Amino acid sequence: MSAKKRPATKAKKAAGVVQAKPAKAKKKGRAVPAAVLDQLVARATEARERAYAPYSKYHVGAALATKDGRVYAGCNVENSSFGASICAERNAVVQMIAGGDRQIEAVAVVTGDEGASPCGICRQVLAEFADDDVPVVMVGLGAEGGEAGRVVRLGDLLPLAFRLATDGL
Ligand code: THU
Repeated sequence: MSAKKRPATKAKKAAGVVQAKPAKAKKKGRAVPAAVLDQLVARATEARERAYAPYSKYHVGAALATKDGRVYAGCNVENSSFGASICAERNAVVQMIAGGDRQIEAVAVVTGDEGASPCGICRQVLAEFADDDVPVVMVGLGAEGGEAGRVVRLGDLLPLAFRLATDGL
């Protein structure tokens, strides 16, 4: 029996669980010019140099592109009270909002290892301002043979992001 036709279990029906639709064929990320992605990686690399990470010593830079070509960058900023630390991606989002933009077109994250994907909280925060098909470029400056990168869709990093309806504000 295919996943599509499998009936919901009694328990799930009783709890009113809404079954997620079966995954469709993987969508491609939206076409963002390579030059834009390269610029994002350059800006994220620059921001990473300003990371404040004396505790983890793990430096991260992130950059976001908006539709009209603006770029916002951020680095991780740690704190003695560890929970008060902020990741590079969320820092970049905060810069974007303070700069007056609200729509992310592409994301780059740069680390000093083999490349890393955004943490769960950052995925959720990015999803607040980005569609599922927004490309997320992950570059590791310490990858064997030099810089290595991969690109994934935000929707693949965070399927079924939590969303509340807004009144458009
Ligand atoms: N970090 C980021 O900046 N982005 C992530 O997506 C994951 C983790 C930071 C937080 C902390 O300063 C350090 O990396 C180690 O967790």
